[in-house]
Amino acid sequence: MESAKLTLDPAFEVGPVERRLFGSFVEHMGRCVYTGVFEPGHPRAGDDGLRRDVIELTREMGVTTVRYPGGNFVSNYEWEDGVGPASERPTRLDLAWRQIETNAFGLDEFMTWMREVDAEPVMAVNLGTRGIREARDLVEYANFPGGTRWSDLRIKHGVPEPYGIRVWCLGNEMDGPWQIGGKTADEYGRLAFEAAKAMRRVDPGLELVACGSSNMRIATFGSWEATVLEHCYDQVDYISAHSYYDPVGGSRADFLASAVEMEQQIEGVIATADHVAAKLGSRKRLKVSFDEWNVWSQSLFGGESSLDWEHAPRIIEEEYDVAGAAVVGSLLITLLNHADRVGIACQAQLANVIAPIRTEPGGPAWRQTIFHPFALTAAHACGRILRVQATAPVMPTERYGEVPVLATAATLDDDRLAVFAVNRGDRPLPVEIDLRGLPQASDLSHVTVADDDTGARNTERDPHRVEPRIIDGAAIDGDRLTAVLPPVSFNVLKARLS
Ligand code: AHR
Repeated sequence: MESAKLTLDPAFEVGPVERRLFGSFVEHMGRCVYTGVFEPGHPRAGDDGLRRDVIELTREMGVTTVRYPGGNFVSNYEWEDGVGPASERPTRLDLAWRQIETNAFGLDEFMTWMREVDAEPVMAVNLGTRGIREARDLVEYANFPGGTRWSDLRIKHGVPEPYGIRVWCLGNEMDGPWQIGGKTADEYGRLAFEAAKAMRRVDPGLELVACGSSNMRIATFGSWEATVLEHCYDQVDYISAHSYYDPVGGSRADFLASAVEMEQQIEGVIATADHVAAKLGSRKRLKVSFDEWNVWSQSLFGGESSLDWEHAPRIIEEEYDVAGAAVVGSLLITLLNHADRVGIACQAQLANVIAPIRTEPGGPAWRQTIFHPFALTAAHACGRILRVQATAPVMPTERYGEVPVLATAATLDDDRLAVFAVNRGDRPLPVEIDLRGLPQASDLSHVTVADDDTGARNTERDPHRVEPRIIDGAAIDGDRLTAVLPPVSFNVLKARLS
């Protein structure tokens, strides 16, 4: 049987585990907000309308950061509609997803929810139909202590202390022809520069994210980032990347190898940002905010024109299987291995819409298969990320050529070692790990997300069909750790070091 060999050496590291890599995304889309995180009258909702079952699952998942309120939604959104007395909030048309938006949930409800889930917000401003003024007004509402029009309005709404929101996205996917108020790279770069300047004058402590390309396959990938950053490099800290990996349309091997594409995208964006730095003679280095990523059968979605005007419609409620969980695990591994240059990542989205958490109105909430690799990685990745030296058998793919069947990352924190590993292959994969240079390892455990049926899913009727389980067989002999990874699986090997 073919096997894989890994070498871990504490001298070789990527960098610290950045907690913001375990981000998620709440967009006013479908049932992510309404009947997802917010459902007044639900048996598990408090007086604030927030579903406690979803809060508990979000905490269990280990979500550290949440991007809000969009997505495409933000490009036609007027944030003022979502603050103040609920009875006075207008109902509006959301042009992104043909939704009736009641505005019952807005910034203040979101920030209450953020406190409950104990996560950091990443707030997006509308640079589609709106501009500099509305963006700076929102920063004033959220972050200015008081004594001004917008900060006093926040205080009047019962929030005396500023929220202190640090990270802000300057619009969303402004390169996309589908985006309301989409722009050319020159138009957007200029606007991002001016919006950033004004927002920073209100609060100099902001960390700002410029919109990169909405995916790597769009014709302007690379040139978009270069032009945008030539305008706003000095004003921003991050450049965004988005990508969804489609199980439909390509071969199964292509899908299982999706992380190769994420890696190419990260490296392409970094190379472009560094090229602009060189041109500008800047020593500053940007990081990537990979603030939308997930598995999504996007080719099956008919686009917004296929939708009827509805409030909280059931759209894109993707059901995930074990193969999807393995791909999500490999994407998390890729993010960890690039944590020296990827500072933020948000899985899109959190509830119901392409989401790890599913809910029913008035009913239960449950974990999809992809919940598990996220929760396990967020829980066990801590300390420093090691640069793993790996050799593994390869598998043929149409899109990416020969790809290793193994994706892996490792973290080390004082006395704790965690190795994250995805077996993309259809056969069990023996792995041998050389732990040279590490203190003696003990208390080994091997947790896997796998199933004899890689199409197995969790459903409302059978919410625990796919769960992480501990498997036997992993062993430590001196500085040699051995284990066998089940076919198409996500795995965590944990050990204590003494
Ligand atoms: O997450 C769903 C949508 O995908 C977002 O609104 C948009 O930014 C992306 O195209």
